Amino acid sequence: MTPVALLLLAAQGFSGTASCAACHGGIARNQARTRHAGALARAADGRWAFGAGAQAITYVSQAGEDAYLEHGLSWYRKTGGLALTPGHGHPAGVTYPTFAPDAAILRCFQCHSTGTLRLTEKREILPAEPGVHCESCHGAGGAHAARPAPGNIVSPKRLSAAALNDLCGACHRMPPAAGVATNFENPWNVRHQPVYFSQSACFLQSGGALSCISCHDPHQDGAPAGDSKCRQCHAEPKHAAPRPGACTGCHMPAVSPSPWLRFTNHWIGVYRLEGPGANRLRPAAQGRGR
Ligand code: HEC
Ligand code: HEC
Ligand code: HEC
Ligand code: HEC
Ligand code: HEC
Ligand code: HEC
Ligand code: HEC
Repeated sequence: MTPVALLLLAAQGFSGTASCAACHGGIARNQARTRHAGALARAADGRWAFGAGAQAITYVSQAGEDAYLEHGLSWYRKTGGLALTPGHGHPAGVTYPTFAPDAAILRCFQCHSTGTLRLTEKREILPAEPGVHCESCHGAGGAHAARPAPGNIVSPKRLSAAALNDLCGACHRMPPAAGVATNFENPWNVRHQPVYFSQSACFLQSGGALSCISCHDPHQDGAPAGDSKCRQCHAEPKHAAPRPGACTGCHMPAVSPSPWLRFTNHWIGVYRLEGPGANRLRPAAQGRGR
C-alpha cells in the first residue's frame, strides 16, 4: 500500500471514542485505563511517546519537513532508565522520510492510534485519536453511533476464532499465510502472538473454540485467563510425573529477545526448558494430538 493510500484509508465515518462513551459508558471507562489506550501519547516536550510503558517507551519526533526521527534511546521499565531502542545500533536514532515507500513511520502511528491520520500544514503527522480505542477493533462507527442497530458495526462476538486472530493480527501481526515461511527461531517474532498461537494444537484442533479473547478481555487489562482456561479442555493432562507450577509457565514459556523485554510464547506446546536441546521458541515434542 502506498503511503498516501494509507493516509486515505477508511477516511470516512469515524466518530471517536467520546461518541461511543455516551451509550457504552462502562466499557469506555474500563478501556480508557488499558495499555491499548495508552499505546501513544504526546510527551510534554512535544515528542510522541510510543508504548504505554508497561515494558518500554520509544520516542518519535519530526525532524525537518519531510522526515521523522525514531530516537535511539528508549525508556525501559525493567531498569527505569534509557537503553538502545530495539533494532538500533547507535543512540543517534534512525531518520525515516515521512513518505518512504514502506511507510515505516506512518505505520507506527497507524498501529498505535485510532481513526485516520492527517497531515498538518507543517507536514506533521496528526493521529485522530492517539492510542488504540473502540474503532481500531470495531471499525468506523459513525453510522452506528447515529442510529444504533445490531449489524451496523463490527461485532467480533460473531467472528470465528481464525477471524479473531486476524482482527488482533492487524496490529499484533497476522498468522503466516499458507506457504509463507516464518522464522520461528527468531525470538523477536514471539511478540507476534497470532503467528505463534496459530501453530498450536490447541487452536488447530479445538474446532474454533479458542481465540485471543478466550483468555484476554478486549476492554480491560489484567491477568489473562491461563490455567483456569487450560483446565476447561485438559482436566487431567497425561504427565509422566507430577508437574507442579502454572500450566502456562511450562507450556507458554516467557521469551526475552533483549535483556529488557519479555514476551509470552503463544505456541502452546510441550517444551524442553532445561538441559541440552532446551528451546523456548519451538515445542520439543508433540502430544497425542498429532
Ligand atoms: C446512541 C447510543 C449509541 C452510540 C452513540 C453507540 N452505540 Fe453501540 N450500541 C448501542 C445499542 C443500543 C446497541 C445494542 C443494539 C441492539 O442489540 O439492538 C449497541 C450495540 C453495539 C455493539 C454490538 C453490536 C452487535 O451487533 O451485537 C457494538 C460492538 C457497539 N455497539 C459498539 C459501538 C461503538 C464502537 C460506538 C462508537 C463508534 C458505539 N457503539 C456507539 C448504542 C449506541
Ligand atoms: C490498532 C492496533 C491493535 C489492534 C487491532 C489490537 N491491538 Fe492489542 N495492542 C496494540 C498495541 C500498540 C499494544 C501495546 C500497548 C503498550 O504500549 O503496552 C497492544 C497491547 C496488547 C496487549 C498487552 C496489554 C496487556 O494487558 O498486557 C494485549 C493482551 C493485547 N494487545 C491484546 C489484543 C487483542 C486480544 C486484540 C484483538 C481483540 C488486540 N490486542 C487488537 C495494538 C492493537
Ligand atoms: C503492525 C502494527 C505495528 C507497527 C507498524 C508498530 N507497532 Fe509498536 N506495537 C505494536 C503492538 C501490537 C505492540 C504490543 C507488543 C506486545 O506487547 O506484544 C507494540 C508495542 C510497542 C512498544 C512497547 C514495547 C514493546 O516492544 O512491546 C513500543 C515502544 C512500540 N511498539 C513502538 C513502535 C514504534 C516506534 C514503531 C514504528 C517504528 C512501531 N511501534 C510500529 C504494533 C505495531
Ligand atoms: C482491542 C480491540 C477492541 C477495542 C479497542 C474495543 N473493543 Fe469492543 N469488542 C471487542 C471484541 C473482541 C468484542 C467481542 C467480545 C466477546 O465476544 O466477548 C467486543 C465487544 C463489544 C461490544 C458488545 C458487547 C456485548 O456483550 O455484546 C460492545 C458494545 C463494544 N465492544 C464496545 C466497545 C467500545 C465502546 C469500545 C471503546 C471504548 C470498544 N468496544 C473497544 C474488541 C474491542
Ligand atoms: C490460552 C490463553 C491465551 C490465549 C488464547 C491468548 N493469550 Fe495472550 N497471553 C496469555 C498469557 C497467559 C499471557 C502472559 C501474561 C503475563 O505473563 O502477565 C499473555 C500475554 C499476551 C500479551 C502481552 C505480551 C506478551 O507476549 O507477554 C499480548 C500482547 C497477548 N497475550 C496477545 C494475544 C493475542 C493477540 C492472542 C490471539 C492470537 C492471544 N494473546 C491469545 C494467554 C493467552
Ligand atoms: C478449547 C480447548 C483448549 C484449551 C482452552 C486449551 N487447549 Fe491444549 N489442546 C487442545 C486440543 C484439542 C489439543 C490437541 C489434542 C490433544 O493433544 O489433546 C491440545 C493440545 C495441547 C498440548 C499438546 C501439544 C501438542 O503439540 O500436541 C498441550 C501441551 C496443551 N494442549 C496444553 C494446553 C495449555 C497449557 C492450555 C492453557 C494455556 C491449553 N492447552 C488450552 C484444546 C485446548
Ligand atoms: C513443570 C512443567 C509443567 C507444568 C507446570 C505443566 N505441564 Fe503439562 N506437560 C509438561 C511436560 C514435560 C509434558 C510432556 C509429558 C511429560 O513428560 O509429562 C506435558 C504434557 C502436557 C500435555 C500433553 C499430554 C496430554 O495430556 O495430551 C497437556 C495437554 C498438558 N501437559 C497440559 C497441562 C496443563 C493443563 C497444566 C496445568 C494444569 C500443565 N500441563 C502443567 C510439563 C508441564
